[in-house]
Amino acid sequence: MKVLVTGGAGFIGSHLIRLWLKKNNRLEIVNLDKLTYCGDVSRLAELRSNPRYQFVEGDICDPSVVERAMRGCDGVVHLAAETHVDRSLLNAKVFIDTNVYGTYVMLEAARKAGVKRFVHVSTDEVYGSREKGFFKEKDALKPTSPYAISKTAADFMALGYAESYGLNVSVTRGANTYGSYQYPEKVIPLFVSNAISNQALPLYGDGLHVRNWLHVEDHSEGIIKVFEKGKKGEAYNISSSVYSTNIELTKRILKILDKPLSLIQKVKDRAGHDRRYAIHPGKLKALGWKEKANFSRGLETTVRWYQENQDWWKAIKEKDRDFKEYYQKAYTQRAGS
Ligand SMILES: NC(=O)c1ccc[n+]([C@@H]2O[C@H](COP(=O)([O-])OP(=O)(O)OC[C@H]3O[C@@H](n4cnc5c(N)ncnc54)[C@H](O)[C@@H]3O)[C@@H](O)[C@H]2O)c1
Repeated sequence: MKVLVTGGAGFIGSHLIRLWLKKNNRLEIVNLDKLTYCGDVSRLAELRSNPRYQFVEGDICDPSVVERAMRGCDGVVHLAAETHVDRSLLNAKVFIDTNVYGTYVMLEAARKAGVKRFVHVSTDEVYGSREKGFFKEKDALKPTSPYAISKTAADFMALGYAESYGLNVSVTRGANTYGSYQYPEKVIPLFVSNAISNQALPLYGDGLHVRNWLHVEDHSEGIIKVFEKGKKGEAYNISSSVYSTNIELTKRILKILDKPLSLIQKVKDRAGHDRRYAIHPGKLKALGWKEKANFSRGLETTVRWYQENQDWWKAIKEKDRDFKEYYQKAYTQRAGS
């Protein structure tokens, strides 16, 4: 079987490819990735000479590129996206271009090529915030940020292609994911890398926002399970049993690194910051998926990975202009200012 994975030079896509090739020795993977600011082929350096792996640099918004990459593929797992909420608040257009139009290009190409299986990787952020209880797949979607809105449009479009054209599409809606090789603008690698460098940890608002923390390998296993066993036209939540406020998470990171709590710096809350994400993974569990990670061990291993791979994230923080010009400025504002 040959599968086209988009966004495989990103955080989750690279873990998914590594894991899937290891689990299935008859699988071939084509990785289509534009290598935007957060795409990095070094995440999969060890696969360079693997005959079952091929990397194609290209844009999912270009139909001819997608058509060529999809040739001969039996299935598609579509992860390529603009993914950072803060950036979407600054410039929504690229989120609409990549996440909405790009997903349309992927679905059209799959339909025309007669691809047998398509998994669209969506997010728990499509549901919006919920103070109590858990969202299930049939609940209404109520996204808030431009990122979540663009992912919701793509999610609906993917499910709609099953209805309108009979394409064998399923959607996964994953929770906040953590692990090695995550771009250091996301909260865990940002806080770990700042703490290592003795820089402030910019905590939004009162720090009481609640997130579900899903290990990247559990997320990848969930995507594979849905690819293999998911039903056409259905969505599947992927989440763990771990809920944490951002302040608790921050304190755990500092404890692992043996750094002082005084590094925490409360900053003005993000506009429209969802208070709590909570989704129910029962439907995916019914397909045979199980949460394997233990959060204490998973977080400790992740923090140690960033400690041992400082060259990787230091080079990114040095190179990425937005980090210097926007993040440093925004994150040093004091609460309420
Ligand atoms: N990280 C999370 O916590 C999380 C949770 C749930 C769902 N998701 C979803 O999982 C997917 C992957 O997330 P991630 O955190 O690995 O993202 P990431 O930002 O680390 O990687 C995204 C990848 O997509 C590529 N890309 C962007 N635009 C492209 C384009 N036009 N053409 C081709 N490639 C392009 C980038 O180069 C990069 O390699 C996304 O669809 C995201 O919405 C992420």
